[in-house]
Amino acid sequence: MKKFYVIGHPVAHSLSPKIHAMFAEQCGEEIDYQSIDFEPGSFIESLGRLRREQNPYGANITLPFKKDAADYCTELTERARVAGAVNTMTFSGHQVFGDNTDGVGFVHDVCGRCGFDFVGKRVLVLGAGGAARGVIAAVRPLGCARITVANRTESRAVSLAEEMGIYAAAFTDLRRGFDIVINATSAGLSGAAPAVPNTIFAEAQLACELTYSQFATPFMRLARDSGCPRVEDGLGMLIEQAAESFKVWLGVAPDTAPVYKALRGAAADF
Ligand code: ATR
Repeated sequence: MKKFYVIGHPVAHSLSPKIHAMFAEQCGEEIDYQSIDFEPGSFIESLGRLRREQNPYGANITLPFKKDAADYCTELTERARVAGAVNTMTFSGHQVFGDNTDGVGFVHDVCGRCGFDFVGKRVLVLGAGGAARGVIAAVRPLGCARITVANRTESRAVSLAEEMGIYAAAFTDLRRGFDIVINATSAGLSGAAPAVPNTIFAEAQLACELTYSQFATPFMRLARDSGCPRVEDGLGMLIEQAAESFKVWLGVAPDTAPVYKALRGAAADF
């Protein structure tokens, strides 16, 4: 049986084993998919040991190891190279293929389940790390009117904007004029919303948090309290990125709708 892991720290509460078990059952595939916690700073040696002892077919990589994973791979897909981060590894002898399915997972969820069309839209991305890079790279070809990246450390937004050919702004300079606001910062981890003015939601039809937790994050509460008509967390993206990884490994695209329904039912409702 092919073995897969989700590697992170912490990782015990990851939904990925459950999601992949549902996909496998649906597609008639037999897989063994487990979570494994690596100590921060031990990625290379821990993965070496795991490969020697368990001979995994593939692995999903989550926080805080996505950059380490990109460095480890012998080959990267274009979307992994642009994101500078790997969330999907495939092992083949001494070769390690690195992919990043986060951006496409986000787009599939927002355009599919949420029914949002990016054509002609004004997009605001908060954050300038790996998560923001992946989302911007996936959204850029979709015909948006304008993509703006804003970051707490403005210089990072400016250099990312130059690299990606989009606009940059400081948090404090942000005003109204966005159709969709995407939170790609990790501010929620410290229990805070990014320090943005709530006018950014004045014309927004949709606010998206990329992370998933059981409760509404401070960003989601800010968006909702500012009158944004639709606020989404990262559950849909999590399931869609998993579906894309499943397809990379096994060549079959699972149906994500029943998995979303099952997990949303078990999770907090916003
Ligand atoms: P990831 O790969 O998840 O994107 P990262 O590369 O460490 O992680 O980037 C984290 C992002 O969250 C950065 O844009 C960071 O802003 P800075 O560049 O100013 O550090 C942002 N971030 C983290 N904590 C934040 C907070 N409390 N408020 C606003 N932005 C925050």
